[in-house]
Amino acid sequence: NEIYLNGLAGIPPRYPMVHSELEAEARSVLPPAVWSYVAGGAGDEHTQRANTEAFHRWGLIPRMLVGAAQRDLSVELFGMNLPSPLLMAPIGVLGICAEDGHGDLATARAAARTGVPMIASTLSADPLEEVAGEFGTTPGFYQLYTPRDRDLAESLVHRAEAAGFKGVVVTLDTWVTGWRPRDLARGSFPQLHGHCLANYTSDPVFRAGLDRAPEEDPQAAVVKWTQVFGHPLTWADLPWLRSLSTLPLIVKGLCHPDDVRRARDLGVDGVYCSNHGGRQANGGLPALDALPDVVEAADGLPVLFDSGIRGGADIVKAIALGATAVAVGRPYVHGLALGGTDGVVHVLRSLLAEADLIMAVDGYPSLADLTPEALRRVG
Ligand code: FNR
Repeated sequence: NEIYLNGLAGIPPRYPMVHSELEAEARSVLPPAVWSYVAGGAGDEHTQRANTEAFHRWGLIPRMLVGAAQRDLSVELFGMNLPSPLLMAPIGVLGICAEDGHGDLATARAAARTGVPMIASTLSADPLEEVAGEFGTTPGFYQLYTPRDRDLAESLVHRAEAAGFKGVVVTLDTWVTGWRPRDLARGSFPQLHGHCLANYTSDPVFRAGLDRAPEEDPQAAVVKWTQVFGHPLTWADLPWLRSLSTLPLIVKGLCHPDDVRRARDLGVDGVYCSNHGGRQANGGLPALDALPDVVEAADGLPVLFDSGIRGGADIVKAIALGATAVAVGRPYVHGLALGGTDGVVHVLRSLLAEADLIMAVDGYPSLADLTPEALRRVG
């Protein structure tokens, strides 16, 4: 309504409403190497494409005369009541996608304005305390790339807890970076340019391991970071990660039901079904196709999902397949590139408005009404 009423007054929406146009405009404003990093995936990007195509193989069955005049998209997650089941997936190096270099702060402000929680990446251009300072009343989650140095890992988690984050998401699928031909072709890996090390250079444990302060010798900090990044964790490390804080612990990157059961047995609070948007390993199952088995194995534990969410219908379908909440990745980065906080808010509000209208038209007034029976496999 807001958009149509503005239209009546001759004011068109500031940003594209069609996802492919949003993507194309973002591409046109970002430097080519940054675009490669954001848009690219692993190998020939078959899995990345399959992530979005998987949604087309499910169709929602509309129900009529159910009285869906009011919809309720709210969800309880780790004891918190969220206005909707949408979160922002952790995206590293957001700084290079924002005009002023502070993409993490801009995204955190969008979380404050929309109530959509941000899962703040370890690889940020702004220290986690400053990012958390922008959340307002919206809860935030901290994503941990577990460093090889255990003391550093502990320090990061303790800082996140002290800064007021409401949960820790440990990403398991990226202890090594996947084969990403777009970045390889340019010989460009933004992390190495140091745009994302604020959490490290602001950390007393990291600083103690340097001969010279990062302000004096930024290159040495980058070299040190390459040495500490990427702990090849095993199941034996999970109890240690569990012990680092009392915050809800969510493990990201689980697609196999046996892994879900094992994580559950080791006391995690939530599992996060994802294949990293197809950026890490090509040739994999679309994340959506892994979701039903993950949900079954989670046996009531909250299940987060990402990889391929591009529109409101995708949110609705993932919820119907059992996700407790879903996260969106690249689309909000496109919004950030085009309009900073306003652009991210535009993307989030559009996704939620579309999901809400689909639930209205199709007669599923609350998330509880969205069950696998709402869907039919169409291909
Ligand atoms: C990511 N992703 C990611 N995940 C994570 O746990 N920590 C991180 O720092 C990053 N960084 C990152 C950068 C960029 C540019 C992208 C596109 C993705 C993965 C992210 O959290 C999420 O799993 C995917 O983006 C979801 O897929 P879609 O929505 O992009 O298809």
